[in-house]
Amino acid sequence: MLKSVQSIYSVVWYQDKVRLVDQTRLPGEYNIVEISRWEDMAIAIKTMIVRGAPAIGVAAAYGLYLGAREIKTGKRSLFLAELEKVAQSLRETRPTAVNLFWAIARMLQIAYETMGDVPTIKEALLLTAQNIQAEDIATCEAIGKHGLSVLPTTPERLNIITHCNTGALATAGYGTALGVIREAWKSDRLARVYADETRPRLQGAKLTAWECFQEEIPVTLITDSMAAHCMQQGMIHAAIVGADRIAANGDTANKIGTYSLSVICKYHDIPFYVAAPLSTIDFELNDGSQIPIEERNPAEIYQIGETVICPEGIEYYNPAFDVTPAALITGIITEKGTVEPQNLVKLCY
Ligand code: MRU
Repeated sequence: MLKSVQSIYSVVWYQDKVRLVDQTRLPGEYNIVEISRWEDMAIAIKTMIVRGAPAIGVAAAYGLYLGAREIKTGKRSLFLAELEKVAQSLRETRPTAVNLFWAIARMLQIAYETMGDVPTIKEALLLTAQNIQAEDIATCEAIGKHGLSVLPTTPERLNIITHCNTGALATAGYGTALGVIREAWKSDRLARVYADETRPRLQGAKLTAWECFQEEIPVTLITDSMAAHCMQQGMIHAAIVGADRIAANGDTANKIGTYSLSVICKYHDIPFYVAAPLSTIDFELNDGSQIPIEERNPAEIYQIGETVICPEGIEYYNPAFDVTPAALITGIITEKGTVEPQNLVKLCY
């Protein structure tokens, strides 16, 4: 099952279908799921067969094209009305990662702006989904290069801690935070990645550790609660995480546990970077309190595998994301460069 992660693409358009790497089955099984109907794409996003903000955006773009393909009418106005319904259903799959909404908005804009008949609009939609995918790979590569230039300069190679999965699987390819880590590895600046396991879905253990292992990047798996201890022991030089949505003031929503990681970085004076494409910034939100936080099935926390781990009848709370205040973020690494969170808006001009 050894694969080069750089040749892994979470989403692939192949013979008129979308192929997804089933991220719920890794690392045990490397399975490809073929999707040809938009409803199945909505299920794949909701059930996290495909996950990670940029990958969700790409998947949703193809999902909208699949929906467009299924619409039978040749009348432009009816077609656009049906397409809006598909878009709305896709938007309802997951609430936090703004890339989902960004990709759907971009696709709809193309649908409205494309002149000509319905088949012409459908063609334009497929092309746009493919462009979103190709652009994301180029964006991640740029993030990797910009990130490399801000890593701390130390006499020894760096130990970098990360949270959740931000690699090839979470994007169209290469990765955001893991893209920076990959660049550091290629440039001989990296000693080791410390991968938080990332309770409850274990993206760190199942996906980040797997991606690093496939590429022979030295990786040590720790539970989330071990990060502070590792910092206290002087084992960590920097933290880099991804993002699901960044508000205009730099407050950043990412996988639950990211906020506590940023707090302990601050305490130990360790730089804490967020790596994300500009499509993850939501300038319509002033601050992080406005970011919708997904709550997931409590079964994710009350059982491990099939085994229930707590008394029956207790209450549960299972937020999938938290918001790291901008004040705890050293810099936001994007495809256009790295800025302090309060200077995000400068990137757009
Ligand atoms: O619930 P997930 O697995 O979709 O959450 C993913 C994350 O939180 C990632 O860190 C984020 O999407 C950035 S991926 C480049």
